[in-house]
Amino acid sequence: MWLFIAVLLALSCPAGRSEVVHKFNTCSEFFFKGQAPVIPGILNPNSEHTRYKKICQRYNFTSASLGYRYATLYDTESRIPVFSAYIYTGQGDFRRPRIPWMIEPQLDPRVVGMTVPYRNQAINEDYINNSYGVNHGHLFPSCHAADESTAKSTFTLTNIVPQNIRFNAGSWNRIENETRDSMSTHCYDKNDNVLAHVLTGAIPKPGKNELNNRVNIPSYMWTAFCCYNSKKKLWVSQAYWAPNKQEHHNEAISEKNLQQLQQFLNENWVENVQLFKKDCNN
Ligand SMILES: *[C@@H]1O[C@H](CO)[C@@H](O)[C@H](O)[C@H]1NC(C)=O
Ligand SMILES: *[C@@H]1O[C@H](CO)[C@@H](O)[C@H](O)[C@H]1NC(C)=O
Ligand SMILES: *[C@@H]1O[C@H](CO)[C@@H](O)[C@H](O)[C@H]1NC(C)=O
Repeated sequence: MWLFIAVLLALSCPAGRSEVVHKFNTCSEFFFKGQAPVIPGILNPNSEHTRYKKICQRYNFTSASLGYRYATLYDTESRIPVFSAYIYTGQGDFRRPRIPWMIEPQLDPRVVGMTVPYRNQAINEDYINNSYGVNHGHLFPSCHAADESTAKSTFTLTNIVPQNIRFNAGSWNRIENETRDSMSTHCYDKNDNVLAHVLTGAIPKPGKNELNNRVNIPSYMWTAFCCYNSKKKLWVSQAYWAPNKQEHHNEAISEKNLQQLQQFLNENWVENVQLFKKDCNN
């Protein structure tokens, strides 16, 4: 019976080919100055954590390309990502992909006698009951991807949180658009190419995992980017957060700076968070 269910689940959720890693070394390029954020108790850069798993997200790799697309820290108890870290290099010219949601087989290694498949991650079936008014909320949004393969790689459930449907299509989508436009305008490396480091995360709601009794519906979503503006010779950053709840009319999420976001995360989540190395904290 479980085998049958496992086969069904496997059919409905194609497997990603990412890597669950001990250290983010192989995909450190996605972090500002190669350094993952400081999140005491949740992210230890040098060792494994039983609950929080580091994923170097890969997609469509060939012998010529390693295919790393971004990095994710995944909470196997809340069954949602803590954050995804990626590089924005300008808007790609492609349509929003339509592909099935992927899962990450390495999060649930096969063990003899295992009776619960996918104990450590959300699967598509968890998202089917829409009585909570949530759908698939990307952390790394496909509209920030540089090319179609990278956009497809964002369609893994390890990059997804249950997000209020109106909030997802409304003010959070506006934030994704605004930060995209802002990065395209302000972020230039010394060769004049658009380049920014982005971190987007979710704060799990304390208490039980509501969705399908398995997946946490986070209380807040947050995002921040950091880049250098080589034309003006200054570091630029912007930050936002918003509650993950039903919204009514065009609610605006106000722009914040990094200190304000870190303060907010300290008060509502974990103390002494540092999202980017010093340069951006001006
Ligand atoms: C959907 O979720 C609601 C709220 O938890 C629950 O009452 C209902 O039984 C669920 N429906 C299904 C088909 O699981
Ligand atoms: C994989 O990448 C190649 C180019 O490197 C592209 O032609 C192909 O369409 C991609 N496949 C998928 C499934 O995205
Ligand atoms: C965000 O931008 C896309 C075009 O890239 C547009 O279709 C969409 O309506 C915008 N979203 C909002 C909420 O303005």
